[in-house]
Formats: sequence, C-alpha cells, structure tokens
Amino acid sequence: MDLSVQLAPKSKTGFLLKNPVMTASGTFGYGTEYEHLFDIQSLGAVVCKGTTLDSRQGNPQPRIAETSGGILNSIGLQNIGVEALIKEKAPIWAKWKVPVVVNIAGNSIEDYASIARKLEGVPGIHGLEVNISCPNVKAGCVEFGSDPTSAARVTDAVRKETSLPVWVKLTPNTSDVISIALAVANAGADAIILINTIKGMAIDIKSRRPVLGNVTGGLSGPAVKPVALRMVYEVAGVIKDVPLIGSGGIMTANDAIEFFLAGASAVQIGTANLINPRAPIVILEGIQSYLQQEGLDDIKNLIGAGRVS
Ligand SMILES: Cc1cc2nc3c(=O)[nH]c(=O)nc-3n(C[C@H](O)[C@H](O)[C@H](O)COP(=O)(O)O)c2cc1C
Repeated sequence: MDLSVQLAPKSKTGFLLKNPVMTASGTFGYGTEYEHLFDIQSLGAVVCKGTTLDSRQGNPQPRIAETSGGILNSIGLQNIGVEALIKEKAPIWAKWKVPVVVNIAGNSIEDYASIARKLEGVPGIHGLEVNISCPNVKAGCVEFGSDPTSAARVTDAVRKETSLPVWVKLTPNTSDVISIALAVANAGADAIILINTIKGMAIDIKSRRPVLGNVTGGLSGPAVKPVALRMVYEVAGVIKDVPLIGSGGIMTANDAIEFFLAGASAVQIGTANLINPRAPIVILEGIQSYLQQEGLDDIKNLIGAGRVS
C-alpha cells in the first residue's frame, strides 16, 4: 500500500513523507517526550512547538480550559527559543528516521527571517512551518496571517533565507481565507496548513471572571472540525499546485479521511494527543484499514475524491 505524499512538489529537493499523518505544533512538545510511548519514527513527520527568537514564558495561568466539544488554550508560545532548540533538540532529531518540522513564530517579519537563517543547514531539521496564526500573543503572528499582503511578505522573507521546504499555517480568524492562501502560495509556500485555533473565551459564573488568565484563547478539538474541513474544501477548490495539510478536530481515522476527501494531502493531529498520546499512530492504522477495506492501494486516490465538481 502506498501511503507516501509529496509536501513540497515545487521545491528542488521535494519533501516526500512516508505517510500523511503528523503531529500538530504545540500538542506534542519536541517529540522527545513521547518517544517512550510508541514508535514515533513510524509517523509521517513530527511538528514541534512554536519556536521564537528568544525563549518565552507564555501567558499567565490558567492557560487551558475545557469547553463543549473542545478546549481553549492560551499558552502564548512558551518555548525554549531557537538557539536552545538548535543546541539541545536538533542533535537528537538528527538521529531519528522521522523528519522533524520546526514551527516558527515572530513579532516582526525580521524575526521570522532571522529564525529561518539560524535554522538553515542545521542537521535534524527537515522543514519550516511558518505560524502566522497564533491568536494568543500580543504582537505579531496572527496579525501577519490576517492580511494577504503581510502574509505574503512573511512567506517571502522566510523563503529567501532557507533552502528547506516552507509550509505556512493559516488562521481561521478571517473572513477571506482564500485570498490569504493564494497570497502565500504565490509567495512560494510549499504547502499550506489549515487551520490554527479559532479565537474564543469562557467565563466562570461563580467568580464572574474570564476562565483563562489571558481572557481569550484558541478553540481546538472536535468543535472546530467542520470549520477546518470547510476551509480545506474551499481552498482546495482554487489552489491545485500547492498541497494542503488539514488540522482541526481530527480525533479519529474517519475524521482524517474526510480531510483527504475534501482535498488535503496530509493531516495533523493536535488536541487528540492530549486525550491519547498514541492517537497519531491509531489514526494512521485506521487510515490503512480503511484503504484496505475500500480496495485502494494508494492514499493519493482519496485526495479530493469527495469534491463536488
Ligand atoms: C495546547 C495547544 C498548543 C498549541 N500550540 C501551537 C503552536 O505553538 N504553534 C501552532 O502553530 N499551533 C499551535 N496549536 C494549534 C494546533 O497545532 C492545531 O493547529 C489546532 O489545535 C487545531 O487542531 P486540533 O483541533 O487537532 O487540536 C496549539 C494547540 C493547542 C491545543
């Protein structure tokens, strides 16, 4: 059975994943924390926590709140910073079979470019995922992802600094995801991830105060799946030459298959990891069983097969 997917078809080297299941940034640490729980080397890729130029402490607690059909998080990009990542994590990744993609975020376009420059040529890093969609930080990030011109400028700035595949992760917190997707595709994105979390909040009726220390957070989990699926479907209708990666409420193999049918070439597993850290592998096995039952021998036969022409 052929599960391989090409996630940088326009780049010279390409970026061929052995299967289309990867972890979503921020829900799987640096991968190292999960190594003892299952064979993470059998995943298509591991995407690490959002990485900034300097280390960050993140937002005040509480930073996670359960809500109907999902969770709200306002972590605020807590991370060790790019230098520590290069020194402490990349040497471990360099020994892995599974490719690692580094999710990068910044307050300015120059921040993104500097991180990309620092990561160029570092063994153990196979791609960059440009996060222009984090709703939980005061400056930058989602500000760039909400406007086609600035989304394209960030993509272009990273593109110029790296020979690695560049994926761009978009926000659903916009009325026009298609224009933003077209802008980053034209600026040289090798693949596009849809979607990051949806901005939301919760209020504690006893204390009569917002539940999250940051007041607002990002909604993820089953509640967001229909929105993510719709955005993949819409963008796949206009962008044919840049692969899409589905992210949002994928809890089971059936959820993942819906995303392939809508036009995604691969999927990212996020909130599901917080319930079952083995979720990515369970989902991968479920996709294989589905293909077998349906008499299909190539995952590529599913991609876009649910679209109405
Ligand atoms: C606790 C938590 C932390 C996250 N951190 C990041 C991050 O650092 N960078 C990023 O691009 N997305 C981050 N995300 C978004 C996820 O990668 C994913 O795109 C989103 O949660 C939707 O998928 P899901 O419903 O499967 O979780 C985070 C999500 C959660 C729940």
